[in-house]
Amino acid sequence: MHEAVGLSFAASKKALVASRLASRIQKLGLDDYDDYLALIAGSDSRGEFQMAVDLLTTNETYFFREPQHYALLEQELSGNVQRPLSIWSAASSFGDEAYSTAMLLADMQQRGRIGGDWSILGTDISDRVLRSAVDAIYPLDRLRNVSPERRKRYCLRGEGGSDGLVQIHPDLRERVRFGRLNLCLPIENLGPFDVIFLRNVLIYFDADTKRAVVDRVLTQLRTGGLFFIGTAEGRAACDTPLKPLQPGVFRKCAA
Ligand SMILES: C[S@@+](CC[C@H](N)C(=O)[O-])C[C@H]1O[C@@H](n2cnc3c(N)ncnc32)[C@H](O)[C@@H]1O
Repeated sequence: MHEAVGLSFAASKKALVASRLASRIQKLGLDDYDDYLALIAGSDSRGEFQMAVDLLTTNETYFFREPQHYALLEQELSGNVQRPLSIWSAASSFGDEAYSTAMLLADMQQRGRIGGDWSILGTDISDRVLRSAVDAIYPLDRLRNVSPERRKRYCLRGEGGSDGLVQIHPDLRERVRFGRLNLCLPIENLGPFDVIFLRNVLIYFDADTKRAVVDRVLTQLRTGGLFFIGTAEGRAACDTPLKPLQPGVFRKCAA
């Protein structure tokens, strides 16, 4: 797991790992953890390996998580009417972060604060969350930080059996693409981006992996571009020069 996707668990996490995998092992009718290990280490194991990664990581996310990050983004991008804008949500999970950003940019475009040429890419290692991100269907609770005006403008309300669910409007979905990307492998020709979100994923990595992932991701950010990590993730230890702007937000400086 460490080699393939960067996941790192200290011995103290043994009980957590055991409890996260237990019901899966039971469901598959396996006898014990050794059998499960043999299964996911097998040559034909991609699907189950992915399932194990999903169980061991959390995909938790919601719209406008850490609202102060979006406030700063709005302030920083405001007035950028000429240049195209390209944004990457680098561990996008179900897409909440990417669509939140799309709502913000669509509003800014409507008010003439940015031009119309902007796009957002969301990537994650999990096919399951990516499929869901493309469908863009969410329980209302995940949109608790979205204003009623934005919900009205950018969401379609489910009815009947879909009551309590919303789907992001096709016009907004069009602006956001999703693809699979493992942050622990080399990244080729993705950027350059003006803004990168790498929030709430570094927690799974050990110090060396964290540093390597941050530097790798930052190769895809323009000089002067904005870099976001989760505010609970401390400082972004890396070799790329960064200027801190507010907790979890940095500007990439010239080398
Ligand atoms: C807690 S979610 C973060 C979602 C969003 N960025 C946020 O802050 O709300 C972490 C995501 O990181 C993804 N992830 C874990 N390891 C990864 C890796 N090596 N490469 C890409 N994504 C990874 C998980 O699949 C999960 O969807």
